[in-house]
Amino acid sequence: LIKLFFVIACSLVGWDSHLSRIFLLLLFVVSAQGLTPNPEACLVFSSVNGSSISCQPPAQIPHSLPADTIFLAVEFFNLTQLPADFLQGVPNLQELHLSSNRLEDFSPKFLLPVPQLKVLDLTRNSLTGLFPGFFRVSAALCTLVLKGNQLKFLEASWLHGLKALRHLDLSENQLHSLPPGLLENFTDLLTLDLSNRLQVLGEGLLAPQPKLRYLFLNDNRLASVAAGAFRGLQKLDMLDLSNNLLTTVPTGLWTSLGKAARNLKDGFDISNNPWICDQNLADLYRWLVANENKMFFRNHTRCAGPEALKGQTLLAAAESH
Ligand SMILES: *[C@@H]1O[C@H](CO)[C@@H](O)[C@H](O)[C@H]1NC(C)=O
Ligand SMILES: *[C@@H]1O[C@H](CO)[C@@H](O)[C@H](O)[C@H]1NC(C)=O
Ligand SMILES: *[C@@H]1O[C@H](CO)[C@@H](O)[C@H](O)[C@H]1NC(C)=O
Ligand SMILES: *[C@@H]1O[C@H](CO)[C@@H](O)[C@H](O)[C@H]1NC(C)=O
Repeated sequence: LIKLFFVIACSLVGWDSHLSRIFLLLLFVVSAQGLTPNPEACLVFSSVNGSSISCQPPAQIPHSLPADTIFLAVEFFNLTQLPADFLQGVPNLQELHLSSNRLEDFSPKFLLPVPQLKVLDLTRNSLTGLFPGFFRVSAALCTLVLKGNQLKFLEASWLHGLKALRHLDLSENQLHSLPPGLLENFTDLLTLDLSNRLQVLGEGLLAPQPKLRYLFLNDNRLASVAAGAFRGLQKLDMLDLSNNLLTTVPTGLWTSLGKAARNLKDGFDISNNPWICDQNLADLYRWLVANENKMFFRNHTRCAGPEALKGQTLLAAAESH
């Protein structure tokens, strides 16, 4: 239900390329007015740091790229495959945006030429999986977006090699579960989006996440959350658990959250769950009353039962408890 707007930036490079994207957009506007009248050409922006290239239909995908390319976007082409050597010859590439194609898989060697890659955006493609070693030279990769693909399961080995991951987006896939230790080596994560079809949030998945600030667990099918699931989250600014199947939560789940002054400062959302407002929620009630000011969508956070309380807001139930 909520998606807080936040800027994903890995480093200054992220900001620079954001700016250069704006610049590209400006170029596009200028070209639309007839100054650069070649719709078949990709937009190119050169700076002291290298070339940024942005291609969308009807432009032709370039056969070769300038050797100093640092930013490459090839989006909206409906491509199902890219040549194995597509990135050969651009060793400085830092950002690769391939969203809105229909990519089904990659050559195992696809990323080997670009060890400096920081951002890989694969939003809205048709990937059903990756494979062990795909990221073996991607130690610098800081943002990985796999949103809107066809992943039904995910194996930890697919992510081996990533050492700098800070933003991971697995949302809008068909993941019913995740391997328990999936994130154990990614202790620098700042944002994690797991909006999916997850049915269980186990004890261990989020165990060592000392830096995590934004956690999206909304739009899953979570009927339960393990009591210790949030124990390792000491810096969380925002938690979204909306649109799940939670009827109750175990005692102790909230103990680690909302404590320090800055904790959960950007709020939490537990709306649109079928809460059963009975004695089992006593722990949550106490926590809610103490953290009421950080709660989103109170009017959509209601009891589904028992009959006597059906329809009442959870907050009202908590306050009168
Ligand atoms: C080039 O890179 C440096 C260091 O990352 C950065 O400070 C500078 O703003 C960049 N220049 C451009 C035009 O992007
Ligand atoms: C990609 O597919 C969509 C939906 O089928 C279509 O509308 C669009 O024109 C296609 N784009 C290209 C570049 O073929
Ligand atoms: C974490 O890293 C260690 C050492 O590289 C490796 O053996 C282990 O399999 C990794 N865990 C996961 C879940 O990938
Ligand atoms: C709260 O939600 C109910 C329906 O669930 C609606 O009728 C009511 O207008 C809402 N109140 C506010 C203040 O939004």
